Amino acid sequence: MRNSLAKIAVLVSGGGTNLQALIDAEKSGIIKSGKIEIVISNNSDAYALQRAKNAGIKTAVVSKKQFASTDDFESAIKALITENKIDFIVLAGFMCILSENFTRDYPNRIINVHPSLIPSFCGKGFYGLHVHEAVLAYGVKVTGATVHFVNEIPDGGRIIMQKAVAVKEGDTPEILQKRVMRMAEWKILPAAVEKVCAELISNR
Ligand code: GAR
Repeated sequence: MRNSLAKIAVLVSGGGTNLQALIDAEKSGIIKSGKIEIVISNNSDAYALQRAKNAGIKTAVVSKKQFASTDDFESAIKALITENKIDFIVLAGFMCILSENFTRDYPNRIINVHPSLIPSFCGKGFYGLHVHEAVLAYGVKVTGATVHFVNEIPDGGRIIMQKAVAVKEGDTPEILQKRVMRMAEWKILPAAVEKVCAELISNR
C-alpha cells in the first residue's frame, strides 16, 4: 500500500508556511495518497528548509546563481525530480517562474498555490506581499487563494480549488496576507494535493 503513494517534491523559496501545512496534513491523514519525498529550495536561507529538516524530509538547494542559464538551473531541478522518482511537484511559495521547457515535461503534474482569486491579481510581477498590496490599492472587498495546475502561462493553468476571503477595513498587506494564508491557502493546498495524488494513484 505504502509503495502506491504518489511521491511528492515541494519547491519553496521562503518561510514555508504552506510547506508546513502540507507536512501537518500528511501527519494528520488529510494527505493520505501522497508522501513528501524532497523539499527543493532556490534559496539557501529559506526557513522552509528548516521546517523540512525538522520533519525529517530530505532537502536540496538549487540556486539560480550556481548556473549560467535558466536551462541549466531547471535541468538541475529535473535531475532531482528524476533521481527521487517524483510523481508530482507542488510549488508552495516558489518565487521562480518555470519555463515551458520545464512545465511541458510534467503535464498535470505540477500545481501552485497563488494568494488571490485567479484571474485577478496574478501573472508576472504578482507574487507574495505584492499581490495583497495590489488588492488593497484596487479596493476589492473579496480576495482569496487559488490552487491551479502549472503550464507555460504564469498562473494560467487549470484551476483546481479556490477559496474566498474578505478584505477588511484597516487591512495592511501583512494582515491581509496572514488572513488569506490562514483561511484559504493552508486549507486548499493540502486538499488539492490529496485530490490530485488520489487521482494519480488510482490511474496507475
Ligand atoms: C504564499 O502566500 C504563496 O501563496 C505566495 O507566496 C507566499 C509564500 O509563503 N506565492 C506566490 O505569490 C507565488 N506566485 P510561504 O513560504 O509561507 O508558504
